[in-house]
Amino acid sequence: MNGKPKLWISRPVFEDVIAPLHDVFDVQMEPVERPIPPAVLVERLADVDAAIVGLADRIEASVLAQAPKLRFVANLGVGYNNLDLDALTAAGVGASNTPDVLNETVADYAWALMLGAARKVNAAERWLRDGQWKSSRFDGWLGADVHGRTLGILGMGRIGQAIARRAVGFRTKVIYHNRSRLADDVERECAARYVDKDTLLAESDHLILVLPFTPANRHAIGAPELARMKPTAILINIARGGIVDDVALAHALAQGTIAGAALDVFEGEPALHPSLLEVDNVLLSPHIASASRDTRRGMAALAVDNVLAAFGQGPHAGRPPSLLNPGVLA
Ligand code: GLV
Repeated sequence: MNGKPKLWISRPVFEDVIAPLHDVFDVQMEPVERPIPPAVLVERLADVDAAIVGLADRIEASVLAQAPKLRFVANLGVGYNNLDLDALTAAGVGASNTPDVLNETVADYAWALMLGAARKVNAAERWLRDGQWKSSRFDGWLGADVHGRTLGILGMGRIGQAIARRAVGFRTKVIYHNRSRLADDVERECAARYVDKDTLLAESDHLILVLPFTPANRHAIGAPELARMKPTAILINIARGGIVDDVALAHALAQGTIAGAALDVFEGEPALHPSLLEVDNVLLSPHIASASRDTRRGMAALAVDNVLAAFGQGPHAGRPPSLLNPGVLA
């Protein structure tokens, strides 16, 4: 025993980025990437003072009840619907996420998915790998333009705004819907027009979802919403699984209710609903929108800063930079 507080990391994270933790904590990091079964989560947290967890790790009241020493949980992600913040606060456990460091990288990926789905890049590559390129029809592989079209954004936080700013070079018109309308100067900077949700659904040629998951947002895009979209529209979900009703979406794609989709997140991921695998007009991606070399390192560094700060160490000692429940440390 070296008397240091104990810290558990639920997935392998860049050794050099987490190195500063070793001065302060007795660090245990899972050596392989795998879904952590609930019983293992409880066992790992039973005796630790702090944890760095991934989005698949659900930290809720029943887990906290069996983690008496836990004081701080740093989430490796900006979304934190895997954390029961009320339960954490009630248990006196601080929590943090990784905002801002990933905004531009996720916005890049949203455009990659939109362009990829609009121009059928994934299907074209599959066709080529299948050895099917004997000849290509002049009127084959016809995709949708992104330039000059209307991009809709549902959820206009910092990532949504970063997506909107990229539209200028494409001369793509941007409309958005959000819980609250942006300030005039931000709207101007994003060249984005606020519309109600029905108008967003009806007018978007490409619709990107960037809203956080809350119980109220579950199936915010289901069969009725898909029916209001253009038959030529493309839907892109980089937000969270469960915001889209994946079964309704697969049905809409099969029926031609909308033309295509690109999904980085899924209901029940890492499992995919089998009906999504049966349709060809969807680009599928394994929840990697923030996965650029620099950004994943930046996210890890921010999680490290938060944990160190919660234990009075590091550049933000005593003030974790992205604390989600400030009352706890007060
Ligand atoms: C990714 O989905 C994140 O929330 O960071």
